[in-house]
Amino acid sequence: MKILFLTHSFNSLTQRLFAELTALGHEISVEFDIADSVSEEAVALFQPDLILAPFLKRAIPESIWRQHVCLIVHPGIVGDRGPSSLDWAIQNNEAEWGVTVLQAEAAMDAGPVWATATFPMRQAKKASLYRQEVTDAALCAVKEALARFEHGEPLAEIPEVRGQLRPVMRQADRAIDWQRDDTQTILRRLNAADGFPGVADSLFGQPCHLYDAWLEAKLCGTPGDVIARRETAVCRATVDGALWLGHVRRPDGFKLPTTLAFAAECVAVPEVPLESWFAADHATWQDIRYEEAEGVGFLHFDFYNGAMGTQQCARLTEAFLFAAQRPTQVIVLMGGRDFWSNGIHLNLIEHAASPADESWANINAIDDLAEAILRCETHLTVAAIGANAGAGGCFLARACDQVWIREGAILNPHYKNMGNLYGSEFWTYLLPQRVGAAGAAALMQHRLPMTADEAVRLGFYDAVLPAPTFRVDVARRAVALLKDDVRWRLEEKRQARAADEAVKPLAVWRAEELAAMRRNFYGFDPSYHVARWHFVAKSPQSWTPRHLARHRLY
Ligand code: COA
Repeated sequence: MKILFLTHSFNSLTQRLFAELTALGHEISVEFDIADSVSEEAVALFQPDLILAPFLKRAIPESIWRQHVCLIVHPGIVGDRGPSSLDWAIQNNEAEWGVTVLQAEAAMDAGPVWATATFPMRQAKKASLYRQEVTDAALCAVKEALARFEHGEPLAEIPEVRGQLRPVMRQADRAIDWQRDDTQTILRRLNAADGFPGVADSLFGQPCHLYDAWLEAKLCGTPGDVIARRETAVCRATVDGALWLGHVRRPDGFKLPTTLAFAAECVAVPEVPLESWFAADHATWQDIRYEEAEGVGFLHFDFYNGAMGTQQCARLTEAFLFAAQRPTQVIVLMGGRDFWSNGIHLNLIEHAASPADESWANINAIDDLAEAILRCETHLTVAAIGANAGAGGCFLARACDQVWIREGAILNPHYKNMGNLYGSEFWTYLLPQRVGAAGAAALMQHRLPMTADEAVRLGFYDAVLPAPTFRVDVARRAVALLKDDVRWRLEEKRQARAADEAVKPLAVWRAEELAAMRRNFYGFDPSYHVARWHFVAKSPQSWTPRHLARHRLY
């Protein structure tokens, strides 16, 4: 089918539907919802069989829905209506939630239902639920709706209608009373507002929006007080415990790690470091966490939004080198729950006194990590990509001997969208070995999201593992590597690295890539700085890029 996506932006859910429906053989074109006339023009140019709205913030114009079947993906159960579905579901502690695909009509979210899917709720940030459970359920419901569309009619029998019309959630609904609300209530409020819009509150007596809450099981203090700090987060006491706050947004600013946004105020806050890289035995803030089981080391790095700043890269390199000294022979780099990695930290770079200098420091720090992985001779290394990854994160994973990816994870293995960045992380060395020179060039030009299957088919990654059993399968396969004559494999790896080094040293690959990156950061063309500013400032879209709006190429 020819399917036109009308969407507010090309967000993670839209990317997943785009990639998966394309893989099923549908022809997809995308138009951003900028103005009714632009949407009408897109429909006229593309002549779609069907219009799908994966992520819309306003109603589809009547001129379109009267003429074409338009299916809306609504992140709520049947009967739920309104723009804050997930926010209310989290705040109200719903045990189960869902996605409904319904037809656009005059009233928002009230048309005939074409399909629906449900999922059990997890204690997590809204954005995390959206990227995982909501996206999986949406794909399932959209596929069912498309099958139904091809054969005729919407759902004749509507499942039990439990949802209701709910208003937009306002800051007053989100407000936290630190003197009265218990930890779980506060956590739900913060989760319901994360990543957008955050909870309007204050820290150190100054207004800000709060994000990125983590439970703390041991520390406590006077409710509302900031009682500790660790790396980039601060810990705030509640009436029955405490919570860590990893990120804040100050008025007219953008999201930053809390200890950076309140650098001066944090000096007086007691620092409570963790004793080691090993996973703490209680709930607390720990962005880098090491565990061992059956001779395998698992390194988790749960960086907010998958962004890896200079210090985070340096600490992760330190943790990796620690893991490489343990009496194990396989190290699995697990990434975080929501992202494996999205490369260098664009917000921190934007915030720096010299964004060019900070870009340079950050890319060197991520290259140090990639180099430590590549030079590791004592262990087999595996990247286990259980969540989405983008830009440098996709190539960093390739520095490992094996890359295993969860079915359904979406990759954006390209740098071009960030102002034509050349890219580093040794992609010029690693990619041609896996996908050939032409394949590497094609990947670099490719600006579209990629499914896990596609990545493996191209030879970019090594295996796709089923989503429900991903972690278990990763552990099982890692142990199998150990049993599978690991000494011989390590010897083979050492020889291959030495042979490659003799042909062209890693230092030369790195220097060549960094020379190109230096031009991106310090050169005449400011495209990267402009693109980064728009990305961090979340500038509204004013047109749909041509690689998405294929109807405009006709
Ligand atoms: N640095 C800082 N923040 C980043 C980031 C990065 N490298 N990558 C993603 N984020 C943030 C976004 O700003 C957004 O923040 P929010 O919570 O305030 O909304 C959040 O992560 C989610 O990103 P979003 O773009 O909404 O997610 P997506 O799933 O739609 O798209 C990507 C994922 C990876 C395609 C997109 O985030 C991206 O292009 N990131 C930049 C990658 C990059 O160019 N890195 C630098 C070169 S190595």
